[in-house]
Amino acid sequence: MSPARAVAAMALIAMAELAGASGAAAQAYPTRPITIIVPFAAGGPTDVLSRVLGERIRAALGQPVLIENVTGAGGSIGVGRVVAAAPDGYTVSIGHVGTHVANGAIYPLKYDLLNDLDPVARLPSNPMIVVTRKNFPAASLREVIGRLKANPGKISAGTAGAGSASHIAGLLLQSLTGARLSFVPYRGTGPALQDLVAGQIDMIIDQASNSLPQIRQGSIRAWAVTANERMASAPEIPTVAETGLPELQMEVWSGMWVPHGTPRAIVDKLNAAVVGALADPAVGDKLAGLGLDGPPADQRTPGALGAFQRAEAAKWWPIIRAANVAAE
Ligand code: MLT
Repeated sequence: MSPARAVAAMALIAMAELAGASGAAAQAYPTRPITIIVPFAAGGPTDVLSRVLGERIRAALGQPVLIENVTGAGGSIGVGRVVAAAPDGYTVSIGHVGTHVANGAIYPLKYDLLNDLDPVARLPSNPMIVVTRKNFPAASLREVIGRLKANPGKISAGTAGAGSASHIAGLLLQSLTGARLSFVPYRGTGPALQDLVAGQIDMIIDQASNSLPQIRQGSIRAWAVTANERMASAPEIPTVAETGLPELQMEVWSGMWVPHGTPRAIVDKLNAAVVGALADPAVGDKLAGLGLDGPPADQRTPGALGAFQRAEAAKWWPIIRAANVAAE
């Protein structure tokens, strides 16, 4: 056998062994704890969703699921941590329309949101709610907006950083009303909400799942939900259409991704664990109570998330680029 053929044969054997090894690893997955990187602060909506699902994934896959909050730059730092991780299923990214779409048009990312991560599963989504501190001087959303417009740059709006859902919603409110907010960036809307309850800031356009518990306690005021229909879990809150700003539509969808190149068998195991969790009535009730709706049944495959993310990028990137949003 010629030396060249011998080398080729050895390379083939090595590749077969490698494929065999990764195949075996995929079959045995998981054999150690899985880490979910949450790109926002603990206690916020993305963190709460990740912990609820993490507990079910632990039960389904038989290994601990650790939550690591890696925050900053509208969530782009946490997502970058997963892009840089080994494609072995042990480092997982949970994020949303902000972190896995909007940031692609705002930050000079060192990674490609659509190609450096492989989709695993679409997660529940929720509308947002315009909330203010309890003693904000207004009696309707119209009056809230009247005050924003009468005080340009003076009314503070908490966000989770440039590109986050709470920031994008604020930009949309500004473009629809001509008001100019004073954005106050936090590492997540969890800490922003604490400051709103304490009256340190004036308002947030926040994910329902984050604000509902405080609204129910009466520690903040809710003015409108950014959807066409009232929420089943909070029918007392009117819609933006009912309160004079029908275009302020914002639904925050979330998803799970892994580093590109993660074996398909591992992606399928994670997907099955997520789909199983979403099908669990106890999980469904818990999430529904927070205003979170599961993705449609035909939208629960990895491919469905990939296609949806690309469609959202095609929709949002031109809008965000035209708005010239400054990265932090
Ligand atoms: C969070 O978990 O803090 C949020 O998802 C932030 C946001 O995007 O508004």
